This record gives sequence, structure tokens and C-alpha cells, in this order.
Amino acid sequence: MIRSKIPNIGVSIFAEMSELSAQHGAINLSQGFPDFGIPQDLIAASHKFMSEGFNQYAPMQGVLELRRQISKKKLKDYGHEYDPNDEITITAGGTQALFTVIATTVHEGDQVIIFEPAYDSYGPVVKLFGGNPVYVELKAPDYAVDWTEVKKLLSSQTRLIILNTPHNPTGSTLKDADMQALSRLVLGTKIMILSDEVYEHIHFGDAPHESVSKYPHLVDRSFVVNSFGKMYNATGWKMGYCSAPAKLMKEFRKIHQFVVYAVNTPNQYAMAEMLNDENFLPNLSGFFKEKRNFFLKLINEIGLKPLPTDGTYFQLVDFSEVTTLKNMDLAKKLLIDFGVAAIPVSAFTHNTPKSGVLRFCFSKNEDTLIAAAERIAKFYNSIKV
Ligand SMILES: Cc1ncc(COP(=O)(O)O)c(C=O)c1O
Repeated sequence: MIRSKIPNIGVSIFAEMSELSAQHGAINLSQGFPDFGIPQDLIAASHKFMSEGFNQYAPMQGVLELRRQISKKKLKDYGHEYDPNDEITITAGGTQALFTVIATTVHEGDQVIIFEPAYDSYGPVVKLFGGNPVYVELKAPDYAVDWTEVKKLLSSQTRLIILNTPHNPTGSTLKDADMQALSRLVLGTKIMILSDEVYEHIHFGDAPHESVSKYPHLVDRSFVVNSFGKMYNATGWKMGYCSAPAKLMKEFRKIHQFVVYAVNTPNQYAMAEMLNDENFLPNLSGFFKEKRNFFLKLINEIGLKPLPTDGTYFQLVDFSEVTTLKNMDLAKKLLIDFGVAAIPVSAFTHNTPKSGVLRFCFSKNEDTLIAAAERIAKFYNSIKV
């Protein structure tokens, strides 16, 4: 009989809610994917490279031209130059990069700081490699990090701190003061950082996105994960990349080669072509800020309570003042009886505290959002106490 390596872990909440959504013909605002097209030029570039015969294995670390373009972009955005030869690797989405970083860094018994609510893969993968997650709660409504609490939890066993900014599911972002506090905490330690920055370009605040790549005390010990799925609204292409100093990247690649070896060749060339042309660097923040504001207006008109967000394409809505329903009961009633799929924030925590907060993805056409809001309004009127 098979003995589970991660007992107590079921199918991902995204798979569960998307399947339930399809079964009930619901509007799916649960999983983070757009319902609009990707740039036509990206499709044309992909066709072109396939037709021209770029269809065999790419180099293990990724197509050099794409790594060069990423290096240029990182330098422009964050002022740090990653060497395309040995500091950048193209991965099968952000997910594979996250998995590979954890596999590379975490040994049996190591402690890993994870801020909760958290993207669902971190904890299970840490456990898969024998690590012990040390959870730090981000508290509503602003979900900011309490660095004094983090300091108390650090020990000689702490191997890795996992950051995610802009943050899924809460939409909070780390500020310059957070990065300074973190720099002070890790200085003189052997702690490494995994910085999940897949939403780097979906950022609404006045301050710029704070990447660990901007901070000299952090960049030296950090793996940064990015996703082309988020950058070009092409989540189905499953393309991302990881950047890290050469000594870290060398170990990353040893594992990467046995996970996927290499990633889709023609689409790597297509992405390189897009990145090389300034016109194709998307203004995602402006685009998604409009969508966010549109969805917020709909939610406010219903009389519901949205929580503040600074980035990502997710919006949290607090139902706790209008109903005693919590967690999956709340999400399932909305889905099964009213036809809108959302994810309870409790699903992003290891101990599922009772919460009446749901996460909605607003990366959708306006018609989809209007139709969803009409259904959410009916739900609201039916549960209002
Ligand atoms: C915080 C976070 N990290 C990583 C990923 C995975 O990115 P990809 O779709 O490129 O695997 C996602 C996707 O939703 C995410 O929200």
C-alpha cells in the first residue's frame, strides 16, 4: 500500500472549487485566471517559432535570449543585474520554481517561516522535504507583517523565509520599511529567502513594488520567483522563472534538471521577443486597477464590506457582519445556491480558523463581473440577518 508523504493534504482548493463551479455552471471567480485573451502578438510569435522549427528541447536553464531579456528587465525595474548565464532559470510556471527552491534549500528538520494566509503550495512542499513550517499570522484588515513576532520565532534551525508580495490572497504588499526590518533580521545569519513576486506588475499603491532584488542584504540570499502567466495573462502556458545569485542557482539547477529538464521551447522564444519590445511590456497595474475599482464599486453598491487591497487580482470581501456562515459553508452556499465560485480565506491557512471572508478574482471581463455581482447581491439579500 502507498504511504502518503503528505498525509492530511487533499486536492488543492483551486481544483476543488473550479470543479464544483463547472458542475454547477457557476461564474468562476475562485481560481486566479483571466477570462479574456492574451496579446495577439504573443500568439503570432509563438506560431512563428513553431513554424520555423523551434520545437526540440530548450537548454536546461532556458533559452539564452529570454534569460538575457529577463536580466535587462530586472536591472531596469530593480537596479540589480542578474547574470543571464548562471543566475536565471526558466521554469514551468511559478509553481515549479517555488517547488524547486524549497527542494533545493530545505533539509530534514529545518524550519521555514511562512506568513499565513499563504499560497497553498508552500506548507505542503516544505513538509514533503522534511521541513517544519513555522506559521506567522497576518492579521486583518491590513495583513501586515509583525517583524517583532518574526524575530521571536527565528532559531538556529530557521533555513528559509517565504515572502509573497503583492500577496495572494490578501492583496497586501511589503513596504520599504518591511524590507529594511527583514534585512536587519537576517544580517549575519544563514537564513535564505524565497520571494514569490508573481504579481510584481499588479500593484496599485503609490509606492513601487518592493522586490528583494533592490536590497543588497537580501538579494545575496534570495531566490526570486516570477510568472509569465501573470505578466501576459497566459496562465495556461505555465511559464515562469527564478533568479538568484550564482551559488544558489547552481544548486537550484541540479534539481530543476530532474523536475522538468527544460521548458516549452517556441514559447520561450516568443516571450523573449515580447520582452525585447518596449511596446509589449504590459501596463498591468493600470489595467487591473481599473478592474479592481470596477469590482469594488459593484461590491460597495451591494452593501458588502471589501477589505483594503494594494495589489494582485484578488479582492477579499468580509461577510461576517451579514451572516454567521463561515469558511466552506459560506463559499458553498454562494456557489451551489447562487452560482458564484469564490475561495474562503480560511483555505489559505493550515488550521482553518473560522472566517467569513471570501476571496474573489476580478481578472475578468466587465460583463462577467456584472453578472457575478447580480448573483452576489441575491445571495446577500438572502443571508442578511
Ligand atoms: C502567490 C502565487 N505564487 C505562485 C503562483 C503560481 O504561478 P504559475 O501559475 O506561474 O505557476 C500563483 C498562481 O496563482 C500565485 O498566486
